[in-house]
Amino acid sequence: MIYPIVAYGDPVLKQRAKEIDKNDTSLNLAQLVEDMFETMYAAHGVGLAAPQIGLSLRLFVVDAEPMDEKNLLGFKKVFVNPTIIEETGEKWAFQEGCLSIPNIREDVSRQAKLRIHYFDADWNEYEETYDGMAARVIQHEYDHIEGTLFLDHLSAFKKRLLKNKLLDISRGQVDIDYKMRFPLLGKR
Ligand code: NI
Repeated sequence: MIYPIVAYGDPVLKQRAKEIDKNDTSLNLAQLVEDMFETMYAAHGVGLAAPQIGLSLRLFVVDAEPMDEKNLLGFKKVFVNPTIIEETGEKWAFQEGCLSIPNIREDVSRQAKLRIHYFDADWNEYEETYDGMAARVIQHEYDHIEGTLFLDHLSAFKKRLLKNKLLDISRGQVDIDYKMRFPLLGKR
């Protein structure tokens, strides 16, 4: 099932998401993960976090292979209840975008390397180190479950310049080719 993607301005994007309870039988995790991949592919994204489909849960999926970088081959993963243990290395800037903030791309500075603890959809446990573009995709998605958007890394000045564009996005005044849910649709 393809979910509509929640647009900028929805409060769910600003919440710190909750841990998934392994024993919660009301949640079909396998189905949810499948739906999140389907939703992400339909929108041509390389990552999608549960808050972006309106679910405040600590879960995100990535498949960055379309970015066509050598270190991203086969980088298709599910992160359940992840915790970034440490971030190290020099900060580097890269132009990021976000499915919840269509048609805006800005340089974001992030540390080069990270160590993360997480589970997959079958509750296998991992602790791994990532760098390069894989680390960046993880950092962007991890931000989502912490209630942070890439915009929050920009200067106040840059954010002010984007204010009207962001308001348009919240109102649904944006040209996109995937399904979205707008918090201020029809409002002035
Ligand atoms: Ni995003």
